Amino acid sequence: MKKIAGYVKTTYHSIVNRLLPSSFYPTRSFNLNEVSMDDLIRRAANDLAAAGNVVALTGAGISTESGIPPFRGKGGLWEKFDPMEIAHIDALMRDPAKVWNILVKEMKEIVDTATPNDGHKGLAKLEKIGKLKTVITQNIDGLHQAAGNTDVIEFHGNFAWQRCMDCSRKYETRKVEVAEIPPRCGCGGILRPDAVFFGEMIPQDAMWRSRQAASDCDLMLVVGTSAVVQPAALMPVYAKETGAKIIEINPERTPLTAEISDYLIMGKAGEVMNQIIQTLEQKI
Ligand code: OAD
Repeated sequence: MKKIAGYVKTTYHSIVNRLLPSSFYPTRSFNLNEVSMDDLIRRAANDLAAAGNVVALTGAGISTESGIPPFRGKGGLWEKFDPMEIAHIDALMRDPAKVWNILVKEMKEIVDTATPNDGHKGLAKLEKIGKLKTVITQNIDGLHQAAGNTDVIEFHGNFAWQRCMDCSRKYETRKVEVAEIPPRCGCGGILRPDAVFFGEMIPQDAMWRSRQAASDCDLMLVVGTSAVVQPAALMPVYAKETGAKIIEINPERTPLTAEISDYLIMGKAGEVMNQIIQTLEQKI
């Protein structure tokens, strides 16, 4: 009952918050203007030092410093393209060449060469020092694994592999030739990213494990996500329900900021993570 009430409340708030200008959002625990960045970094380092089971939920924002564009906001993909036209499963089934030409080919060029930035490296460091257990990521770029995190739940699948739409054989994306669009499998079927398109189910294992990790953690770092896409945006709600602290790192407020997050550290993931790690290392 409590969970349903929480879900309804969150859904209501995310709808309402999207209708409001960001300056209208109330700030939950304190007035951000009165708290300096240094205080927030110290607070986060203290909270991490005290935590026993930390989980991170990440989104496109953590990869922008690696040169991968986000979906929403300034310079976001959905500013240029309608996601329903190129990122919906119906669009892929209707016109795979169009989806490859507009979205997948460009994404392949960027992801093939992208490398982890300080945001990814900071989360890997947190795992190495025994704090961070699991990363739940909405990203499909594989950069958390490249940085060294070993338990990464890919909520929206991944871009490392392409899958034949006919026989399901998989091909490593880096090795797929794009001279002909759409690229095809040996059987003649069309290849598609092994990632989740709008209108498709979240892989069951990812959904179940994420929910479990969220419910078990005592601190969740929510880094670089606009938190408007469900069910990923529910993970901090599940964490909150079982008493976890929620720390957001994002240059912008999100629908979580007012009601779910304990505090928001307004800044870029790489810069903020560097400062948190530095401060934390002095404590442990
Ligand atoms: P969005 O593009 O919706 O949001 C990116 C977030 O990152 C925004 O809140 C930005 O303010 C923030 N941001 C930008 N630069 C940042 C930086 N340097 N450091 C930290 N934060 C930064 O991306 P997601 O929330 O990941 O789904 O989007 C969720 C899902 O929507 C994606 O997985 C994708 C998309 O449509 C599918 O394709 C199924």
